[in-house]
Amino acid sequence: MLNIVIFGAPGSGKGTQSERIVEKFGINHISTGDLLRGEIAAGSELGQTAKKLIDNGQLIPDALMIDILSSKLDSFKESKGVIFDGFPRTIAQADALKKMLNERGQDVTAMIELDVPENELMERLIKRGQESGRTDDNEETIKKRLVVYNEQTAPLKDWYKNDGKHCYINGLGELDRIFADIVTAIEGKM
Ligand code: AP5
Ligand code: MG
Repeated sequence: MLNIVIFGAPGSGKGTQSERIVEKFGINHISTGDLLRGEIAAGSELGQTAKKLIDNGQLIPDALMIDILSSKLDSFKESKGVIFDGFPRTIAQADALKKMLNERGQDVTAMIELDVPENELMERLIKRGQESGRTDDNEETIKKRLVVYNEQTAPLKDWYKNDGKHCYINGLGELDRIFADIVTAIEGKM
């Protein structure tokens, strides 16, 4: 089982590189952001709760997020592994993920940190906001997302270093070079 956590600030390229990793390794993809946007589009109760938080750049509560992730994981049959994109985002979520995988006789194989400077993140997300219209891709909300990332999510780098799973990737530059670095890092942990 290959379980990859793809990690980084908003706009660091988690979704973009996940697509390539899925194709290369034949694993399932869980993007918690995509899941929540699906709930918003469907107009569910969860979607309504999520929309307010997402548009304000805040995180969905841990307990709720962990439940959603656990049921999604159970829905995969005969899976070769999973890439977790946008999860975990807090220490509580990292603890929960480890527990969930251990209960299934598995663990995280590698945590891939995509490091990108903030000015580049801002530029990428403003551009995407103009093109795709994600409602959280406006300057005010992006700034809030970056604060939340730095305060609540960035500490997970040390968490995964302590767990022996952390791999640093320079996320600035050509997509192909970044992907090649990711593949080398994953293969080094397999
Ligand atoms: P989520 O959907 O996970 O958003 P995010 O973390 O803010 O990250 P993005 O999806 O914006 O960026 P990305 O890293 O995937 O980059 P991408 O490949 O798209 O979460 C949204 C919200 O949902 C959160 O704020 C929170 O409210 C909630 N949420 C989600 N998960 C949660 C959880 N676990 N707990 C609690 N709440 C949760 O790339 C960005 C852009 O850059 C694209 O346009 C792309 O084409 C471009 N790009 C990519 N790579 C490059 C490159 N190398 N050079 C130039 N451009 C590039
Ligand atoms: Mg994404």
